[in-house]
Amino acid sequence: MSSVRDRVEQLREKINYHNHRYYVLDDPVISDADFDKLFQELQALEAAHPELVTPDSPTQRVGGAPLKEFGAVRHAVPMLSLGNAFEDSDVEDFDRRIRQALDKPIIEYVAEPKLDGLSLSLRYENGVLVTAATRGDGEKGEDVTANARTIKTVPLHLLGKGWPKVLEVRGEVVIRKKDFEKLNKERLQREGKVFANPRNAAAGSVRQLDSSITAKRPLSFFPWGTGETSAEVAATHSKLMAKLADWGFRVGEELKVVKGLQGLLAYYNDIGARRDKIPYEIDGVVYKIDHFDDREAMGFTARAPRWAVAHKFPAHEVTTEVEDIIASVGRTGVVTPVAQLKPVAVGGVIVSRATLHNQDEVERKDVRVGDTVIVRRAGDVIPEVVGVIADKRPKGTKPWHMPKKCPGCGSEVERIEDEAAHRCLGGLYCAAQRMGAIGHFASRGAMDIEGLGDKLVMQLVEQELVKTVADIYRLEHDQLAALERMGDKSAKNVIDAIEKSKHTTLPRFLYALGIPQVGEVMAKTLAQHFGDIGPLMDASEEDLLEVPDVGPIVAHNISHFFQQRHNREVIQQIIDAGVRWDKVKRTAGGALAGKTFVLTGGLETMTRGDAKAAIEELGGKVSGSVSKKTDYVVVGDEAGSKLDKAKSLGIELLDEAAFLKLVGKKR
Ligand code: IVH
Repeated sequence: MSSVRDRVEQLREKINYHNHRYYVLDDPVISDADFDKLFQELQALEAAHPELVTPDSPTQRVGGAPLKEFGAVRHAVPMLSLGNAFEDSDVEDFDRRIRQALDKPIIEYVAEPKLDGLSLSLRYENGVLVTAATRGDGEKGEDVTANARTIKTVPLHLLGKGWPKVLEVRGEVVIRKKDFEKLNKERLQREGKVFANPRNAAAGSVRQLDSSITAKRPLSFFPWGTGETSAEVAATHSKLMAKLADWGFRVGEELKVVKGLQGLLAYYNDIGARRDKIPYEIDGVVYKIDHFDDREAMGFTARAPRWAVAHKFPAHEVTTEVEDIIASVGRTGVVTPVAQLKPVAVGGVIVSRATLHNQDEVERKDVRVGDTVIVRRAGDVIPEVVGVIADKRPKGTKPWHMPKKCPGCGSEVERIEDEAAHRCLGGLYCAAQRMGAIGHFASRGAMDIEGLGDKLVMQLVEQELVKTVADIYRLEHDQLAALERMGDKSAKNVIDAIEKSKHTTLPRFLYALGIPQVGEVMAKTLAQHFGDIGPLMDASEEDLLEVPDVGPIVAHNISHFFQQRHNREVIQQIIDAGVRWDKVKRTAGGALAGKTFVLTGGLETMTRGDAKAAIEELGGKVSGSVSKKTDYVVVGDEAGSKLDKAKSLGIELLDEAAFLKLVGKKR
């Protein structure tokens, strides 16, 4: 039996050591698998000898049976809060008060990030964790010992030696931003709801009656001080923290000893500049006098120490009211719900709008006009509504719905299939989509109007010279010449380019219209199939489904685009302005109609593009991969795996000469 007891103790010591290396020092010295072996051996021994199980055994970190309620813990030393400083001048006052009271020219401080989590007081007696309590009202907190035991960075048994008989370590429980995002993703999938921020997630996890749930949450504990201690541990805070590190705690890397006001403000600016890169959410920094003697001389007010202050960062999260929810139309026609807010300062700027992303998001968060909401803005991120404060909802609010008509142009608004987004169908007409639509219309693969680039388009739209793409053909030389950075010559060039663009091809024209999911290839296919724009404009979804490569979504997009009255008007205006295309050579009955080709390897006499064009001219199709539906594989130099696949499927192979003969381009 004593050998079993020895082994159990040996295993615990090893496991504690490796836990500390892994979770506190971020520097493991054995593999996860080897660690698991030690752990399983201990679990097995404890199962066989239940009398050997102790509360500080590392096996107890997995959590136990749920509690009915938390017990109360009276703090031996009250847990106070901190005074706040917002401006540099507040810090100046803080430093001046201390210098005067202590009659010293310059003060040594410690500066630390102010972690935005939940504070916890851990009581160790003879090196063993006996209670963990939340702050509560500062006098009395909740007994969350079972939960604290599951946190890997809370030592169950202090390491090393030299700790006082009674030691209360106080600090913050937090969740890393990265872990928070992961946790929320899983929670959304499982329970359809999310935590508003890492602090709420940490607090919710620590205040769980079922400690086996707490055990699954990625919590970390960072000490920031002590409560009751039966003997003095160190003369300064910085030395105290070094001791706590020796005893197995994870002390934050950002702790610094700094001198005087200058030192404090430099620290604040440094951390502030790196705020978004710090893995934990912080809401400021804390300055404390380093020497405990000096602290004692300063004493406390009723609520907070006079020897410390929290210098806050501009809040990332604030609450405000939703004055309206509008549907905002973006450049590509996507319609986004946007909350119009009573203006508030968040993260250093005034915010009066915040995106609600899409209809699903509005429903999930159930944001309504009149609600009080939490608004968040971190770093350069666009302000976001995190959630609604349910208690503050006024009577008579109604759920918000996406409008059926575009607020910009009155065209239909429709949900994009398989996506959460909605889109305005008035692509050619809608004011909100103008810039994007015009830029695309003029681009190289489309109408190819040289000189009509983004900057000029922006000017034309801003000055309302061009409202729809049809207006391009109404532009006059003098209008262009009068624009900034234009002049006579450039204006003439643009007018010439516009004139030249009138002679185009049907595929280019169709592509230029910017119909969702109609790219250059699809435009060609449509031109081939319908021959002219009239039949295409009148085609039903069923008609469109007969076109090769057109699936239900594309068919739907095309027919709905042409159903919008405004889009039809614009097309008519373009044609009236003189835009013409050559008659489409329809090769539906061509020599290679219905045949599918795959090209592999390089040809000597023509490029891949030429080969493709030659096949398509004769009504054939080129596909990127070999399948049973492939009719011919054209094999060039250094043919790849497609050749092997073709052979295995028994598909007819053509060398370059045979291919040239087939397409009538004999060498
Ligand atoms: S020192 C007498 N240091 O902020 C209280 N507190 O607003 C001394 N906090 O209750 C507290 N990071 O929960 C201190 N580095 C830090 C801190 C920190 C976060 C929390 C703590 C405290 C609250 C006061």
